[in-house]
Amino acid sequence: MPQSSPNNNKAEIESKRTFAIISHPDAGKTTLTEKLLLFGGAIQLAGAVKAKRAGRHATSDWMDIEKQRGISVTSSVMKFIYQNYDITLLDTPGHEDFSEDTYRVLTAVDSALMVIDSAKGVETQTRKLFEICRLRDTPIITFVNKLDREGISPLDLLHKIEDDLALECCPMTWPIGMGKEFKGVYHLLDNTLHLFSATHKGKIQEGVLIRGLDDPLLDEHLGSEADAFREEVELLQEASTPFELEKYLEGTQTPVFFGSAVNNFGVKELLDTFTKVAPNPKPRQTTTRTVDPHEKKLTGFVFKIQANMDPAHRDRMAFLRICSGKYTRGMKLTHLRINKEIQTRNAMTFLAQERKLADVAYPGDIIGMPNHGTIKVGDTFTEGENIKFTGIPNFAPEHFRRIHLLNPIKSKSLRTGLKQLAEEGILQLFQRLNTSDFIIGVVGVLQFDVVVARLEAEYSVEGRVEGTSYNKARYVECNDPKKLELFKARNENSLALDAEGHLTFLAPNDWHIDRLAKDWPDIRFLSSIEHS
Ligand code: G4P
Repeated sequence: MPQSSPNNNKAEIESKRTFAIISHPDAGKTTLTEKLLLFGGAIQLAGAVKAKRAGRHATSDWMDIEKQRGISVTSSVMKFIYQNYDITLLDTPGHEDFSEDTYRVLTAVDSALMVIDSAKGVETQTRKLFEICRLRDTPIITFVNKLDREGISPLDLLHKIEDDLALECCPMTWPIGMGKEFKGVYHLLDNTLHLFSATHKGKIQEGVLIRGLDDPLLDEHLGSEADAFREEVELLQEASTPFELEKYLEGTQTPVFFGSAVNNFGVKELLDTFTKVAPNPKPRQTTTRTVDPHEKKLTGFVFKIQANMDPAHRDRMAFLRICSGKYTRGMKLTHLRINKEIQTRNAMTFLAQERKLADVAYPGDIIGMPNHGTIKVGDTFTEGENIKFTGIPNFAPEHFRRIHLLNPIKSKSLRTGLKQLAEEGILQLFQRLNTSDFIIGVVGVLQFDVVVARLEAEYSVEGRVEGTSYNKARYVECNDPKKLELFKARNENSLALDAEGHLTFLAPNDWHIDRLAKDWPDIRFLSSIEHS
């Protein structure tokens, strides 16, 4: 039964901003994250990327392997308050090999921040992530980073973004100079210029504030370049695309900010606008009805499972995005897939550097539920109503291997390890119909390294990956049970069940699948499916 009675959480819901940063590796996501956390008072000192090299690590990095490689393997949740806005940043792994996890994180946010390196424009990983955002019409704010280096001219860059992504760009700030001459950014709507000094000893410094183009401080700081800059700004204010909130919220226009994350230029301007315009939690679809965040009863879905968040606790955390209602500590929730009621005494909330027990949480918030393998990505939780949130996809993997055990005695541990890693969404596990052997599939090939490292560290299983003849997988669906049985009988050697019991066809190449689709027109071969 729909539960439409409103709750009293209006103010809390309106203050929520739940977002993710999408970018290509090295564009400056970690650096920008740290600056945002500094503004939010969530950390006191920027660890900065330099410190990453020196052995200290960005707050969002947890696992050894990502420290070794200097990339983010796991996604994390960071919460901070800025000017009465309650902001949750979901970290997305930036490396292209980890896109599956990233896609799912993007299902849990209400908006995204796109970071672009000013010298490089829109890069491959950014484009991929942008496409996922577009599928969901996610509103996007853009930050063009590294203006302190020579890059593409700001106007050319805006055109490039517009052409590359078919997304209208609306400059909100404008850089003063570039490279060695870069001095800061002018806010085109507020007519203000913040001249920050670089983060001094890792802390944010309030800089000089210049109000309007007529402010004599502009001449004092820009010298002979002040007049040329005035002209440029006036031209831009007349000629550039005006910001339209509606278009931004529909995902067809992006407000663009310029800056240098490492120098803290342009970050405050970005954050101030982000908090004002970015959407708070919106209604979400289930298979049967739309859930409004203002409904009284709690609903939510799990978008991520993560192990090893704290080496001291060998637990696995299920991240639940709250979609409606209010969470209070200890409340009973129904885990719909297994139709079981659970009591949520130990759910966690995540601050930048620590996690603690969550007492209350509202729509837009993410809570972490410790679990021992019963919760899976895509699961819905409610106070009893039988609904299922849609839009959390399972992607067909693109790389397939077997694990060759170096010590055969460990086969049980291997099986346990692989099953648990599959529940986290690190890999997909396939059991061939006619054999007992497991094939592991991943979306990005680097994930095999993670699998081997984690099997050894957590399950004491030493293994080596071995190739298979499979390169493609398609989930198989058919409305006609007889045809499906016939298909299964004829193709037994290439069929497997994934961890959730979906019938999957494993093939050497696309050609094989195209051929099959022609031969079996009643059967659907799907490259992604909703979690069951
Ligand atoms: P990512 O998370 O998107 O992968 O990027 P990250 O923040 O780690 O930044 C990647 C590199 O870009 C880092 O340099 C970082 O210092 C640099 N960077 C970030 N923002 C800016 C900026 O505004 N201007 C300039 N010039 N560089 C920036 P690195 O070579 O990995 O380390 P290091 O040389 O800083 O020690």
